[in-house]
Amino acid sequence: MTSLAATQRAAALAARAAAVIPGGVNSGQRRVPGLEDLVITATSGATFTDADGHTYTDYHAAFGPPLLGHNDPDVDAAVAAAGRSVDLMGIGVTPVEIELAERLVEVVPSIEKVLLTATGSEATFHVLRLARTVTGRRHILKFQGCYHGWHDAVAMNVISPAEKVGTKDPLSGGILPEMLDATLVVAFNDAAAVELALAEHDVAAIIVEPIPHNIGAVLPQPGFLERLRELATAHGTVLCFDEVITGFRHGLGGYQAVCGVTPDLTTLGKAMANGWPVSALGGKAELMDLFSTTPGRPAFFAGTFNGHPATTAAALATVDKLQREPVHEHVFRLGERARTGLQELYDRLGVPAVVSGFGSVFVTYFLEGPVVSYDDLLRNDVELFVGYRRELMREGIFELPLNLKRSHFSYAHTDDDVDRLLEGTEAAVTRFLATRA
Ligand SMILES: Cc1ncc(COP(=O)(O)O)c(C=O)c1O
Repeated sequence: MTSLAATQRAAALAARAAAVIPGGVNSGQRRVPGLEDLVITATSGATFTDADGHTYTDYHAAFGPPLLGHNDPDVDAAVAAAGRSVDLMGIGVTPVEIELAERLVEVVPSIEKVLLTATGSEATFHVLRLARTVTGRRHILKFQGCYHGWHDAVAMNVISPAEKVGTKDPLSGGILPEMLDATLVVAFNDAAAVELALAEHDVAAIIVEPIPHNIGAVLPQPGFLERLRELATAHGTVLCFDEVITGFRHGLGGYQAVCGVTPDLTTLGKAMANGWPVSALGGKAELMDLFSTTPGRPAFFAGTFNGHPATTAAALATVDKLQREPVHEHVFRLGERARTGLQELYDRLGVPAVVSGFGSVFVTYFLEGPVVSYDDLLRNDVELFVGYRRELMREGIFELPLNLKRSHFSYAHTDDDVDRLLEGTEAAVTRFLATRA
């Protein structure tokens, strides 16, 4: 129960934040309408607690990293142990970096050699620069709805308004027009559009989220990823799977191990270290060996915090646990139960809905199917999508109340959580629909 003092404390903290942090938050996606005073004071397992003293079951999961649950004791112990042994040196390599690289080479099909960065954006930046280095070509091809980070080559055409689909829709000011021109945007699942773009332009790289989770979960049509592989090979274009979300979460080998399509380069991040900031890029040795980590090679690569022993230890401990314990079995089972239960719920309520997802990820689009590309998602009932999630908070359940955002299970969620999710969703949707009646 929230006391007045707690509410006042939360509001005071949010006001202090807004006074000194632009918008009061440290990432553009963290300021959500209606949640301006949300100050998080604790996380644990499948929950978080805010400064009002409310505890929620967390399905937002920081956009996906804590696959094992928040504050996983094994991962956190590995970080603490690393902190007591070797600190950042900025010269040479540490044993933990070697061990992690060996492990990634072992589990991810496309990875013969691998480099570490702190963030996913750095990883996608470097694979695209490498693709341009190796091909000498200008263009990058991305898909409407996919997000690959904040840098200029890719920061465009994610959740675009209808009138911007089919045109360049930059996420930011300050991107040079030449950069926008050099990125081609086509519809996901449209192999013919990819074929045309490759025929008409000098395309260095195709970059794709194998499941575009930045718009929920639009699944690849049978044969689509295979066709991307064929087309990239035929045109001498570098195929990059951005597995920053799908990597580790959908299996140790990423979605490429599930779908059986092997890209030339892969980016990883988010769930890789269960919430600690480490990401990676890897792929064919003949490409990766062009980075300047080998002296004299042409693709410059550097980063003060790359391969930080503590975050690298977090990644290794995460991979260990994913290999040792039935994490994927658990989260996939809960995900399947939730998707089936939610679809039954909406069918029973007579609410047009497509419950989508894969493994531990789920999302409900409020529309008549099918969902093949971003265009279909323009039919989503945004008011209902956001509105029921706001109501869900009153049920002690948190799914991010922003259009098209996906939800996640972790190893810390339980079958009881699924039961409560189904009950809470029914109550929240019913209440929201009553306000519209
Ligand atoms: C698929 C994908 N690629 C890259 C990124 C960028 O990663 P980061 O936010 O760690 O820079 C994200 C972040 O959401 C992502 O979802």
